[in-house]
Amino acid sequence: MDKIFDLIKKEEARQRETLMMIPSENYTYPEVRRAVGSILMHKYAEGDPGRRYYQGNEFVDQVESLCEDRALVAFGLSKDKWQANVQPHSGCEANLAVYNAFLEIGDKIMSMFLPDGGHLSHGWHLPAQAGVDDKKITLVSKIYDVHFYHVDPKTQVFNYEKIAKLAKSIKPKLIITGGTAYTRDINYKKMSQIAKSVGALYMADIAHEAGLIAAGVMNSPFPYADIVTFTTHKTLRGPRGAVIIVRKDMGEKIDRSIIPGLQGGPHLHSIAGIAIALKNTQTAVFKKYAKQVIKNAKILAQELVKKGYDVVSGGTDKHLVLIDLRSKGTNGWVVAWGLEIAGIIANRNTVPNDSGSPFYPSGLRIGTPAITTRGMKEKEIKIIAGWVSKVIEHVKDFKMPSDPKARQSFLKAYREKIDKDEFLLGIADEVKTLCQKFPVP
Ligand SMILES: Cc1ncc(COP(=O)(O)O)c(C=O)c1O
Repeated sequence: MDKIFDLIKKEEARQRETLMMIPSENYTYPEVRRAVGSILMHKYAEGDPGRRYYQGNEFVDQVESLCEDRALVAFGLSKDKWQANVQPHSGCEANLAVYNAFLEIGDKIMSMFLPDGGHLSHGWHLPAQAGVDDKKITLVSKIYDVHFYHVDPKTQVFNYEKIAKLAKSIKPKLIITGGTAYTRDINYKKMSQIAKSVGALYMADIAHEAGLIAAGVMNSPFPYADIVTFTTHKTLRGPRGAVIIVRKDMGEKIDRSIIPGLQGGPHLHSIAGIAIALKNTQTAVFKKYAKQVIKNAKILAQELVKKGYDVVSGGTDKHLVLIDLRSKGTNGWVVAWGLEIAGIIANRNTVPNDSGSPFYPSGLRIGTPAITTRGMKEKEIKIIAGWVSKVIEHVKDFKMPSDPKARQSFLKAYREKIDKDEFLLGIADEVKTLCQKFPVP
C-alpha cells in the first residue's frame, strides 16, 4: 500500500486521540468526506453554471447551482437581492477575487492590524521606519495601499469612533472587518455606516464565524455589508473552500474576477461538500451545536480568568479564547509545544500590542468548535482548562532567549526535553482517555 495511506491512518489516530483546539479547525461530516472524495473531482467546468467553456456539465451545473442557493438560504438571503459565488479555492483567494473585482492597483484598503487579530489576506506590511520603505510582506500589501486600524489598547476591543476618524483621514475605497483572533462580536451596522460615510465599499470576512452566524448565534453582516466572504471549513464544518456573497448588482464583477480573472476550473467535489455543510446549518441540531460552541468558549475563558490568566478583552463572544502569556513570563511557542506533548492542539498567536513576532508571539489561541463537534460540554471544558493551566505552569520556567542564535539551541533542547516529559505525557494519557468517550464523526 502507498505510504500515504499509512500516514493518513496515523493522522486519523492523532485527530482521534488528541484535543483539536485550533479555533479554525473542525471535523466535517462523513457525507461531506464522501462527496469530496467522489468522482466529481474528475470534471473540468471552467465558467459558471449554464455558461461553461467545456462540455458535459448537465449534473455539475446542478451541483454548483444548488450550492449557490444553499449559501443564500443559510444566511436568510433572497435570490432577488444577493448572489453567491462558491468557486474560490480558499479564503485568501476569495478575498483576492473581491479586490480584483472592485479595486484598481494602488487603491486604499483599511483593514484590521494583523497582530491585533487581523488576517494576512487583508494586507500585511511592517510599519514604515524613518528612511526605510515599508516591508511589504503580502501580495495584497504590494498591490494596494493598505492601512490598518487597531483595537483599543485598554479594552482590547474596537473603538468605532476611532475607526470612523481614521476612515475619514484615509478615505479608503474598501473597508474590511474580520480576522483570526478578534474575540468579540462586530457591530456590522456601525462599520457599514463608517464605510458609507467615506464612500467606501464594506467587506465583512466572516471566515471564522460563518457557521455561528448561519445558526443565528452571532451578529450577521447581512444586510449591512456590500460583500461577505467566508471559508467553509471552520465553524461551518464543511470541506476546505470559500464563498463570496455580494449584492446582486455586484455579482457579475465577482464571477468575472474569479474566472477569467483569477482561477481556472472550480473544485466541484469540494463545492458538493460545501453544499451539504450549508444545508446542515439549517437543522435544529446545528443551531444547538453552534450555541454550545460559544457556551464552551465562554466557560473556557472564565475558567482561565479564574486561574489568573490574562485573557485578551477579558472573555469572548465566539468560539475562541486568546491568552496573553506575558504576565506568566512565557510565550506562545513554549506553551503551544508543551500543550502538544500533552495532547492539546492549540496555536501560538500574536496578541494586541505584542512585543514578540508572528513566529514567536506572546499569545495562545484556543478554540472550541471541534471538541464541541465531538460532544464535549461544560464538564469537559473545566477539565481541559485545568490541563491547560497545569501545562503552562509546568513549562513557563523554560525561558526562550531573545538572541536568535541562543534561541535556536534553546528551541532544540526544549523540544528534546519535553518529548520525554513524564508530567506532560501523563496529561496526554488522560486526554486520550477523555477522547475515547467522545468519538469523532
Ligand atoms: C479571517 C480569515 N480570512 C481568510 C482566511 C484564509 O483562508 P484560507 O486558509 O482558506 O486561505 C482565514 C484563514 O484562517 C481567516 O481566518
